[in-house]
Amino acid sequence: MVEPNDQCRTHGPQKGTSKGGVVMTTQVNETELEAQFADTISRKDRIEPRDWMPEKYRKTLVRQVAQHAHSEIIGMQPEGNWISRAPSLRRKAILLAKVQDEAGHGLYLYSAAETLGATRDELTEKLIAGKQKYSSIFNYPTLSYTDVGTIGWLVDGAAICNQVPLCRTSFGPYGRAMIRICKEESFHQRQGYELLMTMMRGTEEQRASVQESVNRFWWPSLMMFGPPDDDSPNTEQSMEWGIKTHTNDELRQKFVDMSVPQAEALGVTFPDEGLKWNEERGHYDFSTPDWDEFWAVVKGNGPCNEQRVAHRKRAWDEGAWVREAALAFAENSAADTENTAAEEAAK
Ligand SMILES: [Fe+2]
Ligand SMILES: [Fe+2]
Repeated sequence: MVEPNDQCRTHGPQKGTSKGGVVMTTQVNETELEAQFADTISRKDRIEPRDWMPEKYRKTLVRQVAQHAHSEIIGMQPEGNWISRAPSLRRKAILLAKVQDEAGHGLYLYSAAETLGATRDELTEKLIAGKQKYSSIFNYPTLSYTDVGTIGWLVDGAAICNQVPLCRTSFGPYGRAMIRICKEESFHQRQGYELLMTMMRGTEEQRASVQESVNRFWWPSLMMFGPPDDDSPNTEQSMEWGIKTHTNDELRQKFVDMSVPQAEALGVTFPDEGLKWNEERGHYDFSTPDWDEFWAVVKGNGPCNEQRVAHRKRAWDEGAWVREAALAFAENSAADTENTAAEEAAK
C-alpha cells in the first residue's frame, strides 16, 4: 500500500448611425433591448458577447463560469497527487492525460469568462484571496490510488450530470466550451469505472479498498449539485435566463438514479440505509446529505481548503516570470513584424 501524500487536516446603451456624413445618435430604449434579450432567451437562442445583456446576467455568468474554471484547475490537485505513484505505466499515462484535460477545461472556461470582460489574472487573484469559490468536492483528500477510480466514476459522473445541460446554456461561449468538455468528462468517468472494475476482480484487500473509497466520496459527490432547491436563492433567476436548465435537486436525483445500477454492476454499496427504489415516483429515494458539513466546507473549513488554495497561490507566484516573459516575447514579436512591414513599405 502506498502512503497517502495528500496531507490535509483530518478534521444603457446608445446606437450611432451615420447619415449623409452627419453622425446621428439615437438613444435606444433600454426596454426595447431588454425585450430583444428576453426574446432571444425564449427562442432558446444564444446570447453572444457582442449582444446587449443585463448587467446582472453578465455578473451571474462571470461568477458561475469563474467558479467552474477554478474547479477544473483546483481539481487537478487531488489526482495529481498520485501521478508519480501510479501502479503501472498504463495507469500513469491515463491519469496524466486526465489531469491535463482538466487544465484544458480550466483554460476554455477562463477564455469564456474573458468574453464577458473578466480577465484570467483578475479571476485567479480573486480565487487566491478567497473571494471566489470552487467545487466543495476538491477540499476532500485522496488517501489511496483507488480514489483516482472513485473520483473518475462519481465526481466526473456528477460533473457530467451537471454539465451536459450546460451545453445548451444561453451564453454562447460557455455552451460551446461545455460541448468539448463533456466529451472529455465522459472518458474520465469511464476510466474511473474501469479502474474500479479491475480492482473488484482482484484481491479481497482491493475490493475492500474500493468500498472504503466509495464510502468516503458518496456524500461529497451528492453535495456537488449544490444546496437543496429551497436553499438556493440564485436558481430561479438563472433558470429564467436559461443559464441553468435544471434545479440542483433534479440533477442530484438524476445522478442517484444513474449511479445505483452502476454500483450494483460493480459490486459495491452506497453508505445510505435510506437508499431504495420508489415505485410510485419512479426514482430512488435517498437520505438527506449533511448540509452542515457542506456549508462548513464551502465556508473554507473543509479538510483541504487551506492546502488547495496555498498550492494554487504558490504555482501562480512561481509562474509569474513565465507569464511576464511570454508577454514580453509577444510584444517584441509584434514590434518586429511592424518594423519589417515598415521596411518593406519603404523599399
Ligand atoms: Fe473537467
Ligand atoms: Fe474530468
